[in-house]
Amino acid sequence: MKKILAMNHGMRDEIQVAADKSISHRSVILSALGSTTVEISNFLSGADCLSTVACMRALGANIEQSGDKILVTGNGLQGLKEPENILDAGNSGTTLRLLLGLCSPQKFLTTFTGDNSLRRRPMARVINPLTEMGANIVGRNGNKNLPITVLPSTKILRGINYQMPVASAQVKSAILLAGLYAGSVTTVVEPVPSRNHTEKMLAAFGVHIETFNNIIRIFPTYNLVAPEKISIPGDISSGAYWLVLATILDGSDVTIKNVGVNETRTGIIDVLSDMGAKIEMLNVKTSGGESSADLRVVSSKLRGVEFGGEMIPRLIDEIPAIAVAAAFAEGTTIIHDVGELRVKETDRLAAIVEEFNKISPNTFTATEDTLIIHGGQEKTFAECITRADHRMAMSLSIFGAAAKGVAIDDSDCVNISYPNFFDVLTD
Ligand code: S3P
Repeated sequence: MKKILAMNHGMRDEIQVAADKSISHRSVILSALGSTTVEISNFLSGADCLSTVACMRALGANIEQSGDKILVTGNGLQGLKEPENILDAGNSGTTLRLLLGLCSPQKFLTTFTGDNSLRRRPMARVINPLTEMGANIVGRNGNKNLPITVLPSTKILRGINYQMPVASAQVKSAILLAGLYAGSVTTVVEPVPSRNHTEKMLAAFGVHIETFNNIIRIFPTYNLVAPEKISIPGDISSGAYWLVLATILDGSDVTIKNVGVNETRTGIIDVLSDMGAKIEMLNVKTSGGESSADLRVVSSKLRGVEFGGEMIPRLIDEIPAIAVAAAFAEGTTIIHDVGELRVKETDRLAAIVEEFNKISPNTFTATEDTLIIHGGQEKTFAECITRADHRMAMSLSIFGAAAKGVAIDDSDCVNISYPNFFDVLTD
């Protein structure tokens, strides 16, 4: 049990937020497919990205790490080798799904497993399109779950034209990585656009990739031209906790330094601003196709809002934090089209309703894919269960800090994406 006290003062800080998890994963994977050394700075040493590092080492990449800097040297696009053991993706859906795509065209066998949470998460969404490309993949439970084996590829994969049933950057990225090795062009069409870090980084590695709204086309290649250096910005998904907490605590004035503001990720800024938050984007810069900025946020009163559709993939990981903001807003917030939250590290809709209502009773209800929050109810101290989900742990912590305090059963799970979260919270 970790106890978080109520904060009876505003936050007045400059915060260096944890590095972007999505970009960290992709930087190691793509660098490992080049044939020169890439220096990656501000790499996220969270457990999920370390799972990717371990898997890429097992696939033959040379990776040296010292602090938040890593040096990755690959053996070229055709230079991956058969791992000697089962690859463990831990808690990381991104590691698993992207590497299923990467391993599909290889002439060797790879078997994956993961932790209790990952073994329950749906994998047919990635196995199906890869199988359509000609990959040979078998998984438990009718090819739906881990453990999963990718059998050696006996012929060149087919480029496909794939209409994705759900917007998922992980599935899209898996298809694009397999598409690098295919015999012809691969086209992916998303129902609504999801985060585009893979597309941007592939382009920075010299791959011919075209995007037009939600249509992405990748041309196969024989080698990647790796940049010498990649610098990873802060993660807006980690910054989200401070955007929300500083907004709802009176007297706050916080600047979150060097946060990634790729437009496929900034839904949280748009929604909080619609609710009445005061967020300024300062010092915007661009590197390797990715934009970053300092985000200044001062406290303000919030009102309930209604949103869904195309907005959802732009803030999918921030919904628990937005739900906290909505509990302090005047009026009702309705969030549509969030059924995907049921298949994250835990069923986050169920977790929000069960755990958040302990802190603010009669506030949160959900249908199959809608979350409704009646703001402005009385708050109370509560003991809550994180379900080993890092984003539940961090959202419950800021909720308690802004309310009457909270005790959570597991604080270690924040190591997945934000190892020093509690240092910032209790500073
Ligand atoms: C991610 C994509 C999203 C997101 C996850 C990271 C990525 O998942 O929720 O935390 O890095 O590609 P989906 O692709 O399943 O939507």
